[in-house]
Amino acid sequence: MTLGTVIPGAGAASGSGRLHVPGRSAGNADSPEPNPVTDADLVYFTSASGYTGRFAAKLNRPSARIPLLTSAPTLLARRPYVLLLPTYGGTAAQPGAAAKGAVPKQVIKFLNVESNRELIRGVIGAGNTNFGENYCLAADIISAKCKVPVLYRFELMGTSEDAATVNQGLEEFWTHQSRKPA
Ligand SMILES: Cc1cc2nc3c(=O)[nH]c(=O)nc-3n(C[C@H](O)[C@H](O)[C@H](O)COP(=O)(O)O)c2cc1C
Repeated sequence: MTLGTVIPGAGAASGSGRLHVPGRSAGNADSPEPNPVTDADLVYFTSASGYTGRFAAKLNRPSARIPLLTSAPTLLARRPYVLLLPTYGGTAAQPGAAAKGAVPKQVIKFLNVESNRELIRGVIGAGNTNFGENYCLAADIISAKCKVPVLYRFELMGTSEDAATVNQGLEEFWTHQSRKPA
């Protein structure tokens, strides 16, 4: 499976791999601005349409947004987190082949940072079932590459039931995680 612009070997466990966005640095070489940092256990990306951001707001829990501009210094996570992201326009070069370009470039830039890859613990996908087998594909791709589970999938901005299920699921997930041996 490929992540479009992914370089093989990206894995949270080893931290050895690297996702590659051509012409972009993972840090702040493009700008003198410092990288924003977060201790939130939920990190999300939302595009200008903002549906995923609206879902994140419904959760009423601390969360941090990956910058919209790919040229902006990316977010740095300081604690383990779950990643929430939409899928955008994955296309397969041939029928049956893995789709490329499904993971937003901003998220690839965020995951290019080794410490961000090491801290990811799970992924939640936002999408639209009209896209058939590409529904929430970005979450599946990140799950496979970073070796973390897909915790949930929902459509567009999600329903209040989705939000309640995710909130309860995250509580249980983090309780379980904290009991794991280091
Ligand atoms: C150009 C385009 C391509 C999309 N491709 C997919 C796709 O391949 N799979 C999917 O599940 N959703 C796809 N979607 C739906 C978005 O993931 C969905 O609308 C999501 O809620 C957008 O979140 P955002 O507003 O936070 O960016 C696509 C939407 C657009 C506009």
